[in-house]
Amino acid sequence: MSPDQAESLRQQARSNKRPSVDIKGEKIAWRIAVTSGKGGVGKSNVSLNLAIAFAKLGKRVLLVDADTNLANIDILLGIKIKHTLPEMIFGKIFLSEVLVNGPEGIKILPGSNGVIEVLEHDEEVRRKIFDIFNELERQFDIIVVDTGAGLSENVVQFVIGADDVVLVTNSEPTSITDAYAMIKIAVARNPALRMHIMINLAAKQSDAIETFEKLHLVVKNFLNVDTHMLGFLPIDPSVPAAVARREPFISLFPRSAVSIAMIMIARKLLKLPVSSNEKMNFLQKILRSKEKV
Ligand SMILES: Nc1ncnc2c1ncn2[C@@H]1O[C@H](COP(=O)(O)OP(=O)(O)OP(=O)(O)O)[C@@H](O)[C@H]1O
Ligand SMILES: [Mg+2]
Repeated sequence: MSPDQAESLRQQARSNKRPSVDIKGEKIAWRIAVTSGKGGVGKSNVSLNLAIAFAKLGKRVLLVDADTNLANIDILLGIKIKHTLPEMIFGKIFLSEVLVNGPEGIKILPGSNGVIEVLEHDEEVRRKIFDIFNELERQFDIIVVDTGAGLSENVVQFVIGADDVVLVTNSEPTSITDAYAMIKIAVARNPALRMHIMINLAAKQSDAIETFEKLHLVVKNFLNVDTHMLGFLPIDPSVPAAVARREPFISLFPRSAVSIAMIMIARKLLKLPVSSNEKMNFLQKILRSKEKV
């Protein structure tokens, strides 16, 4: 089978089933890019905690840190990175030495933001990178990529290379406008992308729904693309408290509203039923936090 045929088979299989797809007895990881138009809306926290939520649900998860900003996954976890992907490509380091162990058995591929520049080097380097990613796609059920913000080529490449995109936005008009710009560019370059909207930092459920409806309508009207409401994460003091402690909120505060919402979102992506207990817990917590305000 030629590499082109293999790739087309992969794409076909990916569009059929998830989280990992079976191609002639070989499982290929489901690739999810977490992105946003505007920066600072919670991508890195979402990526890390979503990856852990998937692991809690029994999946083998790789978290790829492709964020070019300062609040990287290694900082959120308080871990020291010894090697990065470009080092492995040019040096003599093995893949196993680059991968870092994270909570709940997730693995982290750190500092991958240099990869796109590296891709431009030459054919041999490109082949090496594709081999590495092919290898990773066989080792994991799900690959979650924290892409960083903005519309730079570096970010867009990771987005269009995914099967599903989780677009994080808050309710601010600038964040919604930038999210629209990201969707426009991404679907123009990969029309097969499935776009899921996650509203973060929501003050209340009705605000989150209103924000989603605004974005959904404008994307439908101007781009004729369907977006899916994945869910929302409330503003929750557990998030900055966990960041300050260099631990994921889902591990440190598993019963917080934001953690319950994250588990519900992971279950929704995996098409698993969400128990009424979880829903009840979550709504009660939201109501309680509203009472405090
Ligand atoms: N649901 C939430 N409730 C409260 N605070 C939150 C929530 N989500 C994120 N934050 C806070 O927002 C800040 C930005 O989060 P994060 O670093 O995950 O964003 P980002 O989108 O990855 O940023 P960048 O674009 O710089 O990479 C953090 O200080 C975090 O504590
Ligand atoms: Mg980030």
